[in-house]
Amino acid sequence: MAARPDARPWVPEELSPDTLRDALQQCEGCELFQDATQAVPGRGTFDARLVLLGEQPGDQEDKQGQPFVGPAGRVLVDALDEAGVDRTDVYVTNTVKHFRWKSGGGKRRLHQSPGRAHVEACRPWLDAELSLLRPVGAVLLGGTAGKALYGTTFRVGEARGVLREWPEKYPVAAPPGWVLATIHPSAVLRAEPDERQTMYDGLVSDLRLAAETLRAS
Ligand code: URA
Ligand code: SF4
Repeated sequence: MAARPDARPWVPEELSPDTLRDALQQCEGCELFQDATQAVPGRGTFDARLVLLGEQPGDQEDKQGQPFVGPAGRVLVDALDEAGVDRTDVYVTNTVKHFRWKSGGGKRRLHQSPGRAHVEACRPWLDAELSLLRPVGAVLLGGTAGKALYGTTFRVGEARGVLREWPEKYPVAAPPGWVLATIHPSAVLRAEPDERQTMYDGLVSDLRLAAETLRAS
């Protein structure tokens, strides 16, 4: 059986922040590039010690070309600040770099979670980012990022809030020394109004552990 196509043919051999950014826009490693405006690279300095891994760009991110600039991004920024995470020490990226959506009628584009095949196809970009970053720690935002690393049995509700090791099954050149999973900020937005504050407080509390661990790292 032929291997499924993935992003590898588009990842530059001479890796640098610039070659990575340029090459990402050319990627046709899965079909998601076809209906998206652009690929959305990570944001932040490659000197950052902490990497945050989301799911995929949303509607706003797809239009603006930057991760976490829509409603979920606002929740994330507030939570990072409240938790005392130094945002200049953070690189934010997504598991999948193109927006997957379906039509909601008219111009509305409804988020569709990426499938396993998209996550796997896009993984070489994450590998490339990690090899440039060599981060001290990683925070996984939600189930897609968690499953990408730990496999499909990963459940963010059970796995969140504790420090874990980088998965052996996923070798990278310089694995982060610790990994912390937490809920995705958009889960706060989707929650019932009376549960929203509790969800948000949980996100902040997890991020506080990341901030403390980073300071001690
Ligand atoms: N949700 C994500 O996972 N990533 C983004 O960039 C925006 C929303
Ligand atoms: Fe390439 Fe990832 Fe976009 Fe698929 S989602 S086309 S693998 S950048």
